[in-house]
Parts: sequence; C-alpha cells; structure tokens
Amino acid sequence: MGQWHAAHMEGLSYFGSKAPKSDVVRCAGVFDIDSEKCDLARMHGLRVYSSLDELLCDPDVDITVIAVPNGSHEELVVKCLNAGKNVICEKPVAMSPESLERMIAASEKNGRVFSVHQNRRWDDYFVTMKKLVESGKIGTVMSMESRVHGSNGIPGDWRKTKVDGGGMLYDWGVHMIDQALKMNGYDVERVFCHLDYLTGCEVDDGCFIDIFLKSGIVCRVEICTYNFISLPLMYVRGTDGTAMVCDWGSDVEVVRCTAWKDNDIKPVKTASGLSKTMAPRSERSIEKFTVKKEEVRVHDYYRNFCAAIDKKEPLAVNHDEMRVVMRVIDAAFESARTGDAVRL
Ligand SMILES: NC(=O)c1ccc[n+]([C@@H]2O[C@H](COP(=O)([O-])OP(=O)(O)OC[C@H]3O[C@@H](n4cnc5c(N)ncnc54)[C@H](O)[C@@H]3O)[C@@H](O)[C@H]2O)c1
Repeated sequence: MGQWHAAHMEGLSYFGSKAPKSDVVRCAGVFDIDSEKCDLARMHGLRVYSSLDELLCDPDVDITVIAVPNGSHEELVVKCLNAGKNVICEKPVAMSPESLERMIAASEKNGRVFSVHQNRRWDDYFVTMKKLVESGKIGTVMSMESRVHGSNGIPGDWRKTKVDGGGMLYDWGVHMIDQALKMNGYDVERVFCHLDYLTGCEVDDGCFIDIFLKSGIVCRVEICTYNFISLPLMYVRGTDGTAMVCDWGSDVEVVRCTAWKDNDIKPVKTASGLSKTMAPRSERSIEKFTVKKEEVRVHDYYRNFCAAIDKKEPLAVNHDEMRVVMRVIDAAFESARTGDAVRL
C-alpha cells in the first residue's frame, strides 16, 4: 500500500498503469525496514531515508503516511505525531478502541491532524449507491447488505498472524463497516458477528456481521474468501424500492415500486404449488432503471486532509466516525467469542 501512496503522489506506475499524480502532495521520501522495498523506491527515483528518525527530522515532511502491518500502527502513529508530523494511517487504524484513543490523544497533544485512509468511501459504486439512497428514490432504507466474496483464501503474509493484526474482519471488514455506517448512520445499537476459520489459520478468514442501528436499519456485512459463486456486492432495500450492485464493474440497478397494490399478479409455479406472495410483480406496478456509476476522484482524500491541516475543511474521515467503526469491530470480535449480540 506504500507503493500505492507513492505512485499516486508522484504519478508513478502502479501494477502496470500510471497512477494519476496528486495536485496537493509530493512524496518527500520513503522509509521501509525491508531493503528490497528501499531499492524499489530508489528505482522509481524516490528519496530513501536511512531511518525513521532521519525521516522525522526532515522539516520538508509535513505528513507521514503509515502503511505497515496493522499491529505496528499505534507505535508508528504516536511516534510521528510526537515528532510534530501530521499523520495518515492505513486501515484498520488500530487494533482496539483504547489504542485509537491513545493515537487521538497524541494528535491533540501535539496539535497535529490525524486520520485513517478509508479510501473505499470513494469507491465509485459506493458513492453512486449512497447518492441514490440520499435522493430518496427508493424511500427509507430498511436494510442493506454489503459483501466481498473471493475464493483464494487469505494472503500468506502477516495477514495470517494475530500479532500483526491479520484476519479478514480487520482487513476488509473495516472498509465495509465504514461504508455501511457512512451511508446509514453511526447510531449503532448492537452487533452480532460470526467469524470463519475455514482454512485453519489463527485469525478469521471470513466474517458475517449484522449491525443493528437505533433507527431500525440493519446492515449486514459479509467477507468471504472461500466463495466460488459470488453474491451481489451491495444490495439495499428501501420502503419504495430495491437497489443492487452486482460486481465491481457494474452500475446500480434499481427497481422502484410505483403502485404498492398490484392487481395483475400472476401466480408463480414454485417447487410444490403456486404462489402469489412470491410471484414477480407486473410491469405496471414497478419502474426499472440503471444509475451509471459516478466518476470518482481518488485524490479527494488527500485534498481534504491538506485542507484540514490548513483549517479550511473538517476532516472527511473524522475521529468520532473512526471511534464508532473501532467499537463495532471490537463488539464483533466479542460477539463471535460469546455467540451473543453485543450492545454498544
Ligand atoms: N486502504 C487500502 O485499500 C489498503 C489496501 C491494502 C493494504 N492496506 C493497509 O496498508 C497496510 C500495509 O499493508 P500492505 O498490504 O502494504 O502490507 P505489505 O506487507 O505489503 O507492506 C508492509 C511494509 O511495511 C514494512 N514495515 C513493517 N514494519 C515496518 C516498520 N516498523 N517501519 C517501516 N516499515 C515497516 C514492511 O517491510 C513492508 O514493506 C496495512 O495496514 C493494510 O491493512 C490498505
């Protein structure tokens, strides 16, 4: 992910294509404990610091981006904040709500800006779905499902170890929970979670999380790494319609109810008999349309972070939002351990 940040700051090639160059930040340099990564950075013409301390002593560095295994985030975030740098930390920002509080305290003590890179808030399908929901076209949201389904297991590096903060709940769960709450509200009442350990790792290789909001909305988040048939990426049920995104490349499909009472329903043949309840609606009582995915600007995150340093904008990913997401993750682990729903 460090390569992603450097590539998007400088407009370098990233996995075969040239990343768009940032208009607000430059990459002053890189530090990694792995000498091969340092060589790679030099190959791209980037400055490489010999130590973190050398980097922190460079007055040209205004922002440090922490892209190391999750279990090391707190130590590095606090060190950089104490050195007077503003800090962007990769997700998940912390391993616990208490750890996050220590980071926030360091940012407040040092008067520096600190946030987490929840970049998937800017995913095109999510931005489009969120706008559709806000438009009221599918009425009031009752429930939503958000999922990522893969079948390749979890990567064989630190993502498999507990001490490094591995596991899918931390890895993908944090993105999906952040999106679900951003779209539906932070008024979490309780959380129920099941973790999968299908591949026998010490960390979860998948999870099912139900988040019950005080507003009555239920958000289901699913991360699976052994699904050979994938279900839709996002599915939102409103009082006046349903919206769905099938896959990363799909637009948003919408079916809106235009007349609740449908007098033209023809019974459908089910496995053992006819059903009117489960029959498809007649075309007269619904309206179908597709919403093309929004153009998103990947650099908006950095633009906002810089504007927050200049006190021109509030942080897009703010501390209170980060706190609720961490509390949901904490509750999810507790729920999976006890088998009960956990109240926040
Ligand atoms: N926002 C996203 O979409 C996204 C995507 C992938 C990863 N991430 C996050 O980015 C972080 C890194 O993940 P990754 O996939 O790049 O892992 P990675 O293993 O590919 O890279 C981590 C790098 O950190 C270096 N490192 C470890 N400890 C260090 C230390 N103390 N000081 C300096 N360098 C150190 C390692 O040598 C390695 O090069 C994680 O928090 C992960 O969750 C975010």
